[in-house]
Amino acid sequence: MADHIAEALAAIVGEANVRCGADIGEHYRIDIGRKFEAHPAWLARPATTGEVSAVMKLAHAHAIPVTVIGGQSGTCGAAVPEDGGLALSLDRMSRVEAIDTLSMTMKVEAGCVLQVAAEQAEAQGAFLPLDLGARGSAMIGGVIGSNAGGNRVIRWGMMRDMVLGLEAVLADGTVVSSMTGMIKDNAGYNWKHLLIGSEGTLAVVTRAVLRLRPLPSTRQTALIAMASFEDAIRAMRQLETALSGQLSSFELMWEDFYALHTEAQLAQRPRPMPLGHPIYALVEAMGGDEEGDAALFQRALMALTQQGLVADAVIAQSARQRDDLWAMRDDLTPGYAPLRPFAAYDVSMAIADMPTFAEQARAAVMTIYPDVTMLFYGHAGDGNLHALLSIRRMDKQVQQAFDDAIYGVVRRFGGSIAAEHGVGTSRRDYLGWSRSESEIALMRSIKQALDPKGILNPGKIFAAL
Ligand code: LAC
Ligand code: ZN
Repeated sequence: MADHIAEALAAIVGEANVRCGADIGEHYRIDIGRKFEAHPAWLARPATTGEVSAVMKLAHAHAIPVTVIGGQSGTCGAAVPEDGGLALSLDRMSRVEAIDTLSMTMKVEAGCVLQVAAEQAEAQGAFLPLDLGARGSAMIGGVIGSNAGGNRVIRWGMMRDMVLGLEAVLADGTVVSSMTGMIKDNAGYNWKHLLIGSEGTLAVVTRAVLRLRPLPSTRQTALIAMASFEDAIRAMRQLETALSGQLSSFELMWEDFYALHTEAQLAQRPRPMPLGHPIYALVEAMGGDEEGDAALFQRALMALTQQGLVADAVIAQSARQRDDLWAMRDDLTPGYAPLRPFAAYDVSMAIADMPTFAEQARAAVMTIYPDVTMLFYGHAGDGNLHALLSIRRMDKQVQQAFDDAIYGVVRRFGGSIAAEHGVGTSRRDYLGWSRSESEIALMRSIKQALDPKGILNPGKIFAAL
């Protein structure tokens, strides 16, 4: 072993689970989008909470920066370790420990991949509703650390809404555990909510109890087209009522986004609906009435068409057609390829402000780069807009000009610069555009209290203390 820290790590997790310097694989140094890269000195892969605790005690004693490595599908640099620091991978802690279909809870380790957890719940006849494009790589710990959102937030909320119990290791190695499955628990501060969404800066999440829901037995999916954003939101509100709470996704796509991705996928699947509508939405309802749900869905869409709110609708008639509709929204790689390198944003604001925001953001960017390609899409029901900006080249100056323009308009609307992907390193200079000085001071004092040496994922969310 290369040095005394490596030896101490090996004594905790076993020599086979420690790597040093150049022997550390890419997965532990580079994010999935290949935008961020680091050179950690050590990688450790503990198998238990006790081992995580021992590793943290060691790191604390030597003031070594620690970053937890998960699926690495974050987009803002939050999961990229420090140069010379310790990469702590929880990939050996990947078990689903228990599923309780009476209490409707599941116990999982932080290294469990989201899709694996969802499939195991489903195999027991229960439902873990969180769903996002990175489902096959994102790990539960990272999904908790980033308070991930995705495609079904409109109905079941973000990850925060699904975490009933949590276990975590603090900076000094102390294990805090509340692995209970209670929905109601107001016994003092709810510390778990402080850790959820803290991007690994306050503790290392090791295990969780997640809330399960009844497994829907029906799934209706449609693509609908509207003449305006306002019509789309009115259609969404009506569907919420007409479908008696079954509306589970309402994914908005501006025409240029729809055109680009359906074009790029033409070899695999026909374009489900012609171009020419300003706004499209992928709509999904999930329910439990196998006799009635399909007809209810059809009636609801028909009513919207008759009122003139929806200009065209295509309902998936098979699982294959449903997957094709979702591919247009989720399989973004082929469409985006010619736009690389690009900048991606996930911002939020009051839903009513979304169209004006999009207009003003477009105008702000076009003042600087008139030939910019700008695509808008997003989770309309959550007020969460994604924007992709490309001038087909990228450097620090372009990135900053894009950021200043987009976040400047976000600020004007009192919105959030980081709706669902977190702050990491790439947005930290803009935190003050969404949060007041006193809010940031409060965040810093929490960080100081929990991690006085500043070893947990330093430099993420805000500059190191
Ligand atoms: C999406 C990811 C980028 O919604 O959040 O596609
Ligand atoms: Zn999203």
